Amino acid sequence: MILIIDFGSQFNQLIARRVRELKVYCQIEPPTISIESIRALQPEGIILSGGPASIYEKGSPRMDKDVFSLGIPVLGICYGMQFMVQALDGEVQRAAKREYGFAVLKIRRSSGLFKNIGEETQTWMSHGDAITRVPEGFEVSAVTENTPVAAFEDQRRQLFGLQFHPEVHHTPQGKTMLRNFLFDVCRCKPSWTMSSFAKTIVTEIRQQVGPHKIILGLSGGVDSSVTALLLHQAVGHRLTCIFVDNGLLRKDEAAQLKKRLKEHLRINIKFVNARKQFLEALKNVTDPEKKRKRIGRVFVAVFEAEAKKIKDAAFLGQGTLYPDVIESVSAFGGPTAVIKSHHNVGGLPKKMKLNLVEPLKFLFKDEVRRLGKTIGLPEDLVWRQPFPGPGLAIRVIGAVTPRRLAVLREVDAVLLDEIRKSGYYRRLWQSFAVLLPIKSVGIMGDSRTYENIVAIRAVTSKDAMTADWARLPHSLLGLISNRIINEVRGVNRVVYDISSKPPSTIEWE
Ligand code: XMP
Repeated sequence: MILIIDFGSQFNQLIARRVRELKVYCQIEPPTISIESIRALQPEGIILSGGPASIYEKGSPRMDKDVFSLGIPVLGICYGMQFMVQALDGEVQRAAKREYGFAVLKIRRSSGLFKNIGEETQTWMSHGDAITRVPEGFEVSAVTENTPVAAFEDQRRQLFGLQFHPEVHHTPQGKTMLRNFLFDVCRCKPSWTMSSFAKTIVTEIRQQVGPHKIILGLSGGVDSSVTALLLHQAVGHRLTCIFVDNGLLRKDEAAQLKKRLKEHLRINIKFVNARKQFLEALKNVTDPEKKRKRIGRVFVAVFEAEAKKIKDAAFLGQGTLYPDVIESVSAFGGPTAVIKSHHNVGGLPKKMKLNLVEPLKFLFKDEVRRLGKTIGLPEDLVWRQPFPGPGLAIRVIGAVTPRRLAVLREVDAVLLDEIRKSGYYRRLWQSFAVLLPIKSVGIMGDSRTYENIVAIRAVTSKDAMTADWARLPHSLLGLISNRIINEVRGVNRVVYDISSKPPSTIEWE
């Protein structure tokens, strides 16, 4: 495995991805990790990430210098390289010229990281500090016009540094450099596959949980479904999943889940009908934040009451993903840590005094899908688009009533049916309908109507942090609109949302 030390760069997840794409397992840890813990992990190599700080700034992140004398190869990237320089008595200073963006890398040594790369290659830089004296034992291996030390290496100690980002795709040969590091320098084997990983996870869950029982909140999304299946494979019926039907689900959602996970895969699931409680709590509430808070509160109460019925459960399963984990251990832990997915992490475990078991905590979303497929999760669950915890309540704008929920549910079902038939379902990050709190005039047959407007939202995205509206074919949009207006009583107008995120968000709320 490769250990990545997180100095706070926005590209850390990309480094991890690249390493795994090369079929080598990796883990990201904060710089505060002790030398003993590093030894215990037995990494074949260590990558020190970039970061936004300046190495000579007070309070900039550091780690134990002994990392360079473990006999394990180390690759420092940007800030990671500068940290290496400072720790080994070289010198870093504010650069006369900040370098940001593309730069041509001129290679001086075609061995080490630059094997099979040629004499010149494009790189992507982002730094304001520069190395003015390399530590003893190091040789400069590449330069750019403005950076006299763009890469260096100490072959004897197997220490390497890159002043640019090999992990971003603006450095087209970056993957070759990482490959050279992993396979030539660190002698890793490309053996990390999903099925080997699945076996390891199941064994680890068994070790962690021992003879105890696990409770898992199941939402039906891909993360919680994969978690459920893994936990089930590890402990069988000592896992109880709790599915809370909050009345804010899509059409047939609970029934589908029952069929797929309970009847087909034999996972132990308790379905709790709490529709009344949720609707009661949402009565006359129009403010979206208030909706979220009330839904959250009822959820915790219902979940806790059910969980209490399961005697001597010691563990709580959670489908936490890697991005959430990285964000919460980030070197700065400050403003960058504020992301959406944390609503999934919620306040449950602390209150319930259960130990957490989080089998997906080292995976990215697309890896979770691949894992799900590998362990036999049905395709339609594997490819399920994300659905927000508060469900249709934040897509019925304004007051949430059973009648308005029913209208939206029908509209949504028609929309999804067409999106699926068109082959767009998997290509879209999300596609859904929003019921607006205004009415408009229409004409049906010979009569005037005064009915609801629905908005269709379809977006493409990689991670929901940014998103673009999907350029769906006009013919498809036309078909969707026609079917909705014809088939769903109470709707006489359909509009298409053409805003990107930012500045808009994906959900309307
Ligand atoms: P926004 O609307 O902020 O949403 O662009 C980004 C992504 O997050 C989803 N979302 C949620 N997911 N619980 C969830 O599990 C929630 O409370 C929640 N709110 C928004 C949203 O659907 C989109 O994919």
